[in-house]
Amino acid sequence: MTTRVTKKIPSAAPFFDQDDIDKILQDTKQILESKKLVLGSFTKKFEDQFGNYIGTKYAIAVNSATSALEIVLKYLDVKNSEVIVPTNTFIACPNTVLYAGGTPVFADMNPDSFCMEVEDLKRKITPKTKAIMAVHLAGLAEPAMDELREICDKKGIQLMEDCSHAHGATFRGKKVGTLSSAGCFSFFATKILPTGTGGMITTDDSDLKNFAEAYRHQGGLGGEGQIEIFNQFGYDSMMSEITAAVGINQLLKLDEQIKIRRKIAGMYEKRISEVDKIKLPPKFENSTNVYWKLITILDDKIDRDQVRLTLRKEFTIDGGILYPVLCHLQPLYAKMGHKQGQCPIAERVMKHQLTLPINPYMTEEDVDYVIDSLTDIITRENP
Ligand SMILES: Cc1ncc(COP(=O)(O)O)c(C=O)c1O
Repeated sequence: MTTRVTKKIPSAAPFFDQDDIDKILQDTKQILESKKLVLGSFTKKFEDQFGNYIGTKYAIAVNSATSALEIVLKYLDVKNSEVIVPTNTFIACPNTVLYAGGTPVFADMNPDSFCMEVEDLKRKITPKTKAIMAVHLAGLAEPAMDELREICDKKGIQLMEDCSHAHGATFRGKKVGTLSSAGCFSFFATKILPTGTGGMITTDDSDLKNFAEAYRHQGGLGGEGQIEIFNQFGYDSMMSEITAAVGINQLLKLDEQIKIRRKIAGMYEKRISEVDKIKLPPKFENSTNVYWKLITILDDKIDRDQVRLTLRKEFTIDGGILYPVLCHLQPLYAKMGHKQGQCPIAERVMKHQLTLPINPYMTEEDVDYVIDSLTDIITRENP
């Protein structure tokens, strides 16, 4: 019996080299000695540097993208209104609309970008539509930003972005997070800029900045050493100083990380072009991709779920799906009356999507291992 040599290929792996670890430990020591664990100089520095990197006047650090989305939606005052979100996204997108008192309306998916399908979105606009949430999926800047902007301007609808997958991606040369009223970023452990947990709002709107700074700290106004006045509700959504120190370190490496991801994506593209039954989505002229995940589309006749399982079980490769259950079909939303047929393109295309891992440790041999394993599975009798 031959023993197969397997390599573990995780879908995400935060990258900290020895210099990063030394710097973060040194900063952590400074934070602990300063006894200022929240809202101190590290949070301020991370906000300033992140805002500079993205290109907005303000950046407001919070404890997650979920908090960032909820704060922006509350600021936009979506209560008793509708917010259009793509169905092909993470559940936090529609959930935060509900937390803010609004109703999420699901737009279908464009089969090339895997982001929002504009024609369907137009059909779903009603007099109650207050906002549209663009999600830059898997690392690609939403290619329909011009159309979304035009629709919003014409109809007086607010536009916001979820940039959780796409730190550093650009549309017409401008970074995501600058293309609307507000950008919301995640620094969750698996993201391109990981701090464990964490999030950021980017905006040029000083009123949103003030609202978010108060909201993340129970809604209080007044600041350090002053008597706090509460004239709005809020929550505890602050980022810790230690998280901010990790964020500052990771931000310095972001462009290099993006370069590595693009190089790995290029290796994948070369190998995939030689395989019949796997396709890649097209590229978009005005939208760059930072490749949080590599989206592929498998031939219709292949049992995608079985392929994904075999990749994991037999080859220890973390293949994934963005997203395996579309938001409108999640039990949570099905219970509210959403059903199959509401977003037909997403329902059809997503059965065949498989995302391949991209992590900064991957080598050309790892990419070969993933594609060779995938090819092995899909050329079997019953993959
Ligand atoms: C598109 C999208 N939005 C929001 C979130 C929520 O991010 P966080 O875990 O930082 O709250 C995620 C997390 O995976 C996400 O993928």
